This record gives sequence, structure tokens and C-alpha cells, in this order.
Amino acid sequence: MADCLVTFQPDDKNVNVEIGETILNAAVKADVFINSVCGGLGKCGKCKVQVKGDVSSRDSELLSKEDKENNLVLACESAVMGDIEVFIPEISRAAKHQILVKSKEIDLKMLTPLTRKYRLALPVPSLEDNLSDLERIKKSLADEKIENPKISLTLLRNCAKILRDNLWDVSATVAEEDGRNEIIYIGPKDAVKKHFGLAIDIGTTTVVVSLIDLNSGEIITSQSNYNKQIVCGEDVLARINYAEEEEGGLARLNKLIVETINFLIEKLTLDDEVCRRGIEYGTCKDEITGIVTAGNTTMSHLFLSLDPEHIRLEPYIPTASLIPTIKARDLNLEINPEAVVYCMPCRASYVGGDITADILASGMSKKEELSLLIDVGTNGEAVIGNKDWLASCSCSAGPAFEGGEVQHGMRASFGAIEKVALTVIPELSGEGKDIKVFYKTIGDIKPKGICGSGLIDLLAELFTHGIIDKGGNINDIASPRIRHGDEGKEFVVAWAEETSLGRDMIAVRRDDGEIEMKEAAGKDIIITEADIKNIIRTKGAVYASCSVLLKSMNYKFDDLKKIYIAGGFGNYIDLKKAILLGLFPDVPLDKYEFIGNGSLGGARLALLSRDAREEAQRIYKMMTYIELSVNNMFYNEFTSALFLPHTDMKLFPSVAEVLGEAQE
Ligand code: FES
Repeated sequence: MADCLVTFQPDDKNVNVEIGETILNAAVKADVFINSVCGGLGKCGKCKVQVKGDVSSRDSELLSKEDKENNLVLACESAVMGDIEVFIPEISRAAKHQILVKSKEIDLKMLTPLTRKYRLALPVPSLEDNLSDLERIKKSLADEKIENPKISLTLLRNCAKILRDNLWDVSATVAEEDGRNEIIYIGPKDAVKKHFGLAIDIGTTTVVVSLIDLNSGEIITSQSNYNKQIVCGEDVLARINYAEEEEGGLARLNKLIVETINFLIEKLTLDDEVCRRGIEYGTCKDEITGIVTAGNTTMSHLFLSLDPEHIRLEPYIPTASLIPTIKARDLNLEINPEAVVYCMPCRASYVGGDITADILASGMSKKEELSLLIDVGTNGEAVIGNKDWLASCSCSAGPAFEGGEVQHGMRASFGAIEKVALTVIPELSGEGKDIKVFYKTIGDIKPKGICGSGLIDLLAELFTHGIIDKGGNINDIASPRIRHGDEGKEFVVAWAEETSLGRDMIAVRRDDGEIEMKEAAGKDIIITEADIKNIIRTKGAVYASCSVLLKSMNYKFDDLKKIYIAGGFGNYIDLKKAILLGLFPDVPLDKYEFIGNGSLGGARLALLSRDAREEAQRIYKMMTYIELSVNNMFYNEFTSALFLPHTDMKLFPSVAEVLGEAQE
């Protein structure tokens, strides 16, 4: 079939695709990300792009008359019919993400990585010493306490040549696979110094890969990018639907996650630090012999191409929780094909390997003291326990803190308002109160939306300044910033002239019929009452799930000695404000600890330490799971938490003090 050239602007990226391919698919191939909340089903209208050239588009009520006049189409509903140029407006662009690579520092006194490398100076065979090549290798490994390892036929076929080419002085890599050792690589003796592994956080939105020196435990470098599956839907349920409803859906989702990881492995080698150390790309790929992945249960299934259907259907049973070690070649990963891949165990359909990794990174399963771990994403997960027991639960928190269900919400990307402070000046010449909004954006550029940490700041400021009430209603205050919009009352956070929202170059037809490019006017960034209610629902679900977990185990928040906050969102938030809104419990701040990207940190630990891998299995076995979707207590707790900070102010004494409210 004929190829068409698609050029994406403003990045100026080109890609050749077959005629009939959708623009959204072409964007994935070009490594350009277009927002696609509904996963390309033509339902969200977030993928609007402007096209020049021949496309065949389905008409959609999500396109306004003005959109159509300006050649805007839905990228997921438009087929490429010839060479075209596609301009992605700011609002449809999935901007560069603020991705959390950092995790809690870990203590690695005794390195026992997933794969180990040994120098084998083998005796040269003779008529008197006529052991076979394989027995010779095994005998030498036995001196290192590696007894009777397996070896693949592929490697065995190459063995004779490698040993003789290297004059019997070689290195051997041995993998620990579910309690059994296997020789997975034989190379020159110098290769003993080049011994690498990957820790991978497979997030629903982003994927982070760290290249780790398995001889020292050091992180050499990390790379991250959007999970390419994002074009098939933004959250796990959308991905499961895609796998079930689209022909070849599961195969495509699997291909996209593998492509994302291979792309990041490729990028790792271009990293300055890798180049500075002179680690050769080809060598590096061959010398990567161990991988640990941590992902939620759905992501783990899609990575392994396991059918995720039953994850979403009662009684919510995954295909596998304790996943056997797998070979890189079986997953099409572009590293040493014999490399072993260990997936962190998933406890339940909605408490996955990422949470096992969080627990590992926090160390809570090894401590005497009672701790709570909270991971806030689209799903909120909470775990309580200590070294003897763990209990977990998960709630569908909703995407409000990740930019969904909030009109001008966005992910933590460049241009997102991440911090907000308000000053209210009582009166001005008959125009009402002068409310000044101070904000900071990621990248210090003009704002185009508000991310999770910004929303928490904003709501806390609106609440403490009396602009919204405990139910999240905007009070009747005379001020230019408070007005009635299409969806009821709204508050203007940033005026159009300050923002980059909607400020795109668009094609406009002049009176003489010619098309000219003009900058569209900016738009006010607002928060509506409906947005505020969505945020309150999200924070209420997170708090209620923690509360149910504690009550189910007969504990109170005051009994907790430590609260670990995991996840990219958690690391950037103002704790005091999160407590003020009732997202997190009102306990002394020194009990809180941010563990950063616990999923990545836990994966690294498991890659480097046998103890950690055993601990991950122990966590899986001892952790119970409380299903909240059928839990009446959860409904009651959730309803009580739908206020700022909560209906029961006795639970939030420090907030009552800030608000000047007397406690009974
Ligand atoms: Fe949702 Fe196109 S309409 S991705």
C-alpha cells in the first residue's frame, strides 16, 4: 500500500504511514503525543488537530462550527489519505511530563543481584583432562557455590567457539530463576566489569527505566517517557476495554508497552553519563542481563500479554499474581535475549506490583512500628501494617489530581500551575474584593492549566480565605474573579492575557479567500464549582479508604508511627494544605515521609538484593486485601469525607485551629 508522509507541527516530526492510518496512530509512530483520554473512541474530543492535506474524517458533534472552519478534526477519527501536515494545538498536546525518578535511598551492603557475573579462568583441556566444555564451566562455577546450573541450547551451541576464542579465560553470567540457577551468558573475561540491569516502573501514564550497575548497585542513568499505550485510553479500565473490544487490542497494547521500553533502552545509551563512561551501546545491550519491573496489575498483564478481562469483572481475579521469571526474548525486549525478567508480585486486581515495590522501598514490612502507606494516582491505594502483617485496599479516586474531570486540570507538565497563593484585599472602588492570585508554573512559563499540587494549593487557599465553603460551594463575594459561567459559578485563577491556554497559531480564511495563520486569543484559566466537587470526591475517596483500612484493623490514625506517601503526585504537594483539605489525616507532620517513586525504588531493590526479592514474596503472602466496592463502611466514610476537611472536625484539630473553630 502507498505510503503517506505525515509531518507533525510544531515539533516538525515526520513519519511515513500507510494510507488509511489514523492521525492518532501516525502520531504514536512519530513519537508525538496527542491527548486521547477516551483511547481513540471519538468520545472525549481531546485529540483535536488542525490538518493541511488530504484526510478522510468522520463528522463529530465534538467539533464546533468554528473548529470545522479552521480545519480542525479529531485525530482518532481521521484517516490519512495523502501527504499531510498536522498542527497539534497546545490544548491537544500531551506536554513533557514532570516524571519522578528519585526514590528513597536504599541500603545495599550485600549485593545479591538477580544476575551475577563470574570470571572463569578454566584449565585448558588435554588428553588427561578431557571434561566437556559444559562440565568444565560447571566445575568452575561449583567453586563459586553455583551447583548444577541450567543452560539454554542456544547458548550451549555457541559455547565451544567462545571458550576457544577467549583462550579458556571467560566470564559467565548466572541468573537466579525461581530458586534455580541458569548460565545465561558467556563472554570475554573483561566483560566481568560490564554488568548491567534495568529497574522499570511501568506506570499507566509514564514509564521510567533506570540503568543500574549490578557490580556496584549504582544508578548510572534513568530515562522516562509516556507509556505509548496512552493512545488506547488514559486509565486502566479504558485499556482493559480496549483489549477486550478492539480487534487485536491486547496484542497492540502489548506491542506499545514493549516499544516504550525498547525506546527508553535505546535512549539510555545516548545519555551523557553513559557516553562519558564509555559504555558502548552494543556491549551495554548485551550486558543487560537482569530486569525487574513494577507495575499495577493491569500494566503487568499487558506487559506479559495476559488477558486482563477478569481484572474488572467481579470477583476481580487476575490471571497471575506471582509471575514466574521470564526471558527477555519471550517479551521482545531488545537486550541480551537470555536476560531474565522478574515482575514484582501483584496482591490483587487493584493492588499491584507497584504497591509491593512501594512497601519494599518504604521498609514498612520490616519494622515493628505501625505504618500507613498511601499511593495517590487515578487509583488510590493504601496499606497498613508492620513486620508481621499487612492489609491493603484500593479505591477509584478519580483522575482529578492528574488533570482529569477538572476543566483546566492537567498533568504535571510544563506550563502547569503547581503552586498557588492568594491575597484578598477587602475593598476597591465599588468593584468588590481585589483577590490577587500568585502562582508558579512548571518550567516558569505562561500557564496553560493546573496540575494536582496546584489544585491542592488552590483549594486550600480558596477555603482559608473564605471564598469556598466546607461543601466546596463558591461563596457570593463581589469580585471580578468570581462569576457565573456555562457550568455555574467559577473562579478565575489566571486571566487570558497571562495564559498560553488556547494561544495557538490557527489558520483563518481571509475575506479574499486566502488562508492566513493567526495567533488565537488566550483563555482564562478557571476552576468551577463542579471541578471543586470532583476534587473533593477524589480526596474523600483517598481519606475514606485509609480510614476503613484502619478501622477494619481496630486502629486509629493516632496509633500510626509513620505515614509514607508514594507516587509522583505525592512528592510535590504541600502537606499542610493536603491535611487542611482532608486528603491526608491530621497527624504531626514529622510522621510523614515522602518516598518518591517507590515503584522504581522497590524494583531497584529487588534487582540488587535476594533478600528484597524474598521480602517481595513475603509481602505478597502476608498482605490481606479489603475489597471496598462491596464495603458499607467505605460508603459511610466516603460520605463523611465529602467536606472540607471532613464532617467531623474532631478528626482535624490542627485545621480547626487554623480556621478558628472551637472543638467540642
Ligand atoms: Fe478521544 Fe479522539 S476523541 S481520543
